Amino acid sequence: MRPMSKDREAAARAAALRAQLHHHAWRYYVHDAPEIPDAEYDRLFRELQALEAAHPGLRTPDSPTQRVLGSVLEGLAPVRHALPMLSIQTETDTGPGGAEAFDTRVRRELELAADAPPVEYAAELKFDGLAISLRYEAGVLVLAATRGDGETGEDVTHNIRTIGQIPLRLQGRAPKLLEVRGEVYMRRDAFRRLNEQQRARGARTFVNPRNTAAGAVRQLDPAVTAARPLSFFAYGVGELGGWTPPPTHSALLDALAAHGLPVCAERSVVHGWAGLMHFHDDVAARRDALPFDIDGVVYKVNVLELQQRLGFKTREPRWAVAHKFPAEEEATLLAGIELQVGRTGKLTPVARLEPVFVGGTTVSNATLHNLFELRRKGVRVGDRVIVRRAGDVIPEIVGRMPGARAHYVPNFRMPRACPVCGSAVVRERGSVEHRCSGGLYCAAQRKQALLHYAGRRAMDIEGLGDKLVDQLVDGGLVRTLPDLYGLDAAQLAALERMGERSAANLLAALEHSKHTTLARLLYALGIRHVGEATARDLARRFRRLDAIMNAGVEQLLEVPDVGPVVAQSIRTFFAQPHNREVLERLRACGVAFDEADAAAPAAPAPLAGRTFVLTGTLPGLARDEAKALIEAAGGKVAGSVSKKTDYVVAGGEPGSKLAKAHELGIAVLDEAGLRALLAP
Ligand code: IVH
Repeated sequence: MRPMSKDREAAARAAALRAQLHHHAWRYYVHDAPEIPDAEYDRLFRELQALEAAHPGLRTPDSPTQRVLGSVLEGLAPVRHALPMLSIQTETDTGPGGAEAFDTRVRRELELAADAPPVEYAAELKFDGLAISLRYEAGVLVLAATRGDGETGEDVTHNIRTIGQIPLRLQGRAPKLLEVRGEVYMRRDAFRRLNEQQRARGARTFVNPRNTAAGAVRQLDPAVTAARPLSFFAYGVGELGGWTPPPTHSALLDALAAHGLPVCAERSVVHGWAGLMHFHDDVAARRDALPFDIDGVVYKVNVLELQQRLGFKTREPRWAVAHKFPAEEEATLLAGIELQVGRTGKLTPVARLEPVFVGGTTVSNATLHNLFELRRKGVRVGDRVIVRRAGDVIPEIVGRMPGARAHYVPNFRMPRACPVCGSAVVRERGSVEHRCSGGLYCAAQRKQALLHYAGRRAMDIEGLGDKLVDQLVDGGLVRTLPDLYGLDAAQLAALERMGERSAANLLAALEHSKHTTLARLLYALGIRHVGEATARDLARRFRRLDAIMNAGVEQLLEVPDVGPVVAQSIRTFFAQPHNREVLERLRACGVAFDEADAAAPAAPAPLAGRTFVLTGTLPGLARDEAKALIEAAGGKVAGSVSKKTDYVVAGGEPGSKLAKAHELGIAVLDEAGLRALLAP
């Protein structure tokens, strides 16, 4: 055999890589069943990219590297459809009776005798997205167009290429020309995730998956489309060349699937109206559980020859019908907006609605998420609003019905005081959430605050768990933290699942918790952004609670790792009179926490200003213990080795951190070395 030239070798390798990448993209996107790890896919992908960069002539339009194009278009070019993209007639009766009406029409048009056997139908889902035509020439995707007015659509090839589920090259022996028709849609989980991201960024949320998918496909910048997770189902064909399709619609879809196109598995071949009705009822019952929105089902006469005999009626085929389901969006009255205070203090505006039947249930409340989202939706009390409930997703208000308001209605405002406890409502800079600053004082937050207070790393009150806190709060025995110390054995023993023994144990644990440190108490108060480390730093710097309570922002900022957000949060907490009162009462109950009150003198800080990194297993110290010892001596423990690291403490089986320490010339200690440093 003649040795291959360098160029031919490169061309052969590129072709092999393309074939492999096409196969793996199909396994990944269409079947959700990858055969190789992502990293291996990336490696093949980069090899192809490098080959194409070195030999630009090898870059074919069907190359997987061409999925994202850089250029932004000025407008979408019109595309005339070779065969018009028709719509389907909709059966008006949304009950199962609609199936019977369609079957009756078909039998009449086909002039079937009353005793002729039932007609065979292909029954499918009616996907709620955007119709697309995909033109494959010799197996390569050359054009993707929207439906437009049915005669002329828009060229959206650049965007469609970014959809991983759509093959750039067909599998198997591809016909000369195959125009595939189907629906681009967005899955519900993808839509939910996208909106969560938007909300977190304080950006506009999308109304529903259909509009989002349609908007994404019609973008001028393919990078925008690529950032919106889209999916595709093929449901038919348009123009064909060099291919005789199989005799039935269902076999035609099987053939498309064999070419690597995504075809929905939720489809059946059924007989007569009874078969259609059964399919309709079955899908309607499972509608919520589907991973994407549908607005009904579609029935098609299965035998293509019969489809031809039935033909068209202006813009709709006589052989197909859409049988719709009840809507997932309905209009109703926004009767009021109320605030809900969550367990973490977040204030959520909730819409009270005139009850409306939508997506299979009666909806009378819907979350408005936060003030900014409410404002973006532009809804005011008294408006007629559109409510959406799709799948088992919680109902949402997507916007208001067009039209002017008859009267002036003021815009909703966040109150200055928490509706539950009257504490100040605050919003941190850059956050979209309003919060009650009441913390442990606010009934809505009380249970959470008590559990946090009792936590092992806070006041360490053993036995004060979920169930008990529920009983104490719901029974009105505990309103604020100091109430805990007023509980007596008889009250406790009377509670469910509380014997005399457990009651006594809890009282002992409460008593024990009175002797604590300022750091633990500060952490236990549950001040937002004050974690264990910050609490320790504050305690070390100020030593007495009063000093922290009265510290200004400037002083607080002097503490290591305390920035403006943390400082403000501490200020807000102690500015609330009831929080101060809680602390007074704790003191009165005998809770001793100031450094000067505590039995032990202030610990020396031999490691102050030193940063440590721990790696491997120490023979006589758990990682937590080593960390606690270092921090108690004033040192800091960091997660990774850098130039700022003073010591790396290495035990058995150390990781790459040890190598890094050697590389940077940082001192390495074993356990004995660490203990020597800790000794005062
Ligand atoms: S067949 C000639 N099948 O419904 C029939 N259409 O009015 C051509 N649609 O926007 C359409 N699911 O995109 C067909 N399984 C399905 C469908 C489906 C959704 C959409 C289609 C078009 C509308 C038809």
